[in-house]
Amino acid sequence: MATFLIFFDKRFDSTARSEISSTFGVHMEEVPMAQYFGVLIETGASEEDVSDWLSGVQFVHGAVRILSEIHSGGTDIDYAMIESKIEEFADKGKTFMIEVLNLGAGTGMRAKDIEVRLGTDLEKRGFSIDLKKPTRVFYLIFAPRSTMLGTMPCGGEVSLLDSFRRRGTGGKPGVSRASFKLSEAMDYFGIEKNTIRRAIDIGAAPGGWTAELLSMGTKVVAVDSATLDKEGIEARLGRSISISEVDENADILYMKGIAQDVSRELSGLRDYDALMIDINFAPAIAAELAVEFARSLRRGAYLIMTLKLGDNDITGSIDRAKEIIGFAYNRIRLKKLPHNRREITLFAIKDDST
Ligand SMILES: C[S@@+](CC[C@H](N)C(=O)[O-])C[C@H]1O[C@@H](n2cnc3c(N)ncnc32)[C@H](O)[C@@H]1O
Repeated sequence: MATFLIFFDKRFDSTARSEISSTFGVHMEEVPMAQYFGVLIETGASEEDVSDWLSGVQFVHGAVRILSEIHSGGTDIDYAMIESKIEEFADKGKTFMIEVLNLGAGTGMRAKDIEVRLGTDLEKRGFSIDLKKPTRVFYLIFAPRSTMLGTMPCGGEVSLLDSFRRRGTGGKPGVSRASFKLSEAMDYFGIEKNTIRRAIDIGAAPGGWTAELLSMGTKVVAVDSATLDKEGIEARLGRSISISEVDENADILYMKGIAQDVSRELSGLRDYDALMIDINFAPAIAAELAVEFARSLRRGAYLIMTLKLGDNDITGSIDRAKEIIGFAYNRIRLKKLPHNRREITLFAIKDDST
């Protein structure tokens, strides 16, 4: 039997718990955390089984096999003890990395400094650290009432969604917090950045997703009745951009208006590589727009959209949106990503079978 810490966003408590209990039963020990809920489960499942399960669930954020509880005195970190635990479990022939997960308990130290210190010490003892393609990750988890050491294997990719750091814009200023949602979606759904030459962005203002797309060299058709923050986009990109209301060759072709009104003009546009939708309306309405605008996409194009979820009937509204989207797209996948609040991100491919 092994113990796993499974955690999820508090906003989706009941949906996430039912994802967990339908596989692992209902015997869960609660672990208090700041923005997340954590539960500890005992299971006969292997790390690989849990990784596979994690890649299929929509609302659970992460799962880590717990190796040991660490009794660190207050904010002091007992490096020698943590290192000896890692030594017990790590394999000298295989690469690994160390990540600090700060689940609501400050350590008073930067996560990076702790990781570097542990990594340097362990390398001196013959272990190989690889930050790019490790075969395993050791997690030092700081929760408000406990510190734990955990691990998960990883097939060359860091397996946990990185909700605790802000990698998103590489330190550059963002136009809006929303831009993180797009970069997380691209990473999670495995989209190569240079494959999107031209994209349509519905609900584009103030321009977070548009800026993210432009940073990949994409030309963007931005649709919104609200105003784009040109200065913010330029600050994010570190260069000036052209915005036109008529010219498809400008960096941004700005269609000012709601998507339903500009759809006739847009119907002249063809063969776009991606459609992004981030509007503050019910999932079914956003899904209908996705189907309507599918005719401007080439086969195999990507759809990335957020589904805004209320408190009630979360699964019902997701199922209804999926049903609508299924008219024009296939390979639909959903994931609650770290920067999603009361919403989930949907990914699909423009139907390539017809
Ligand atoms: C959450 S904000 C989008 C944030 C944006 N994706 C970003 O990264 O900065 C939602 C936007 O959707 C726009 N919107 C709502 N309904 C729309 C519709 N039917 N067509 C186009 N835009 C719409 C709103 O005006 C608002 O600017």
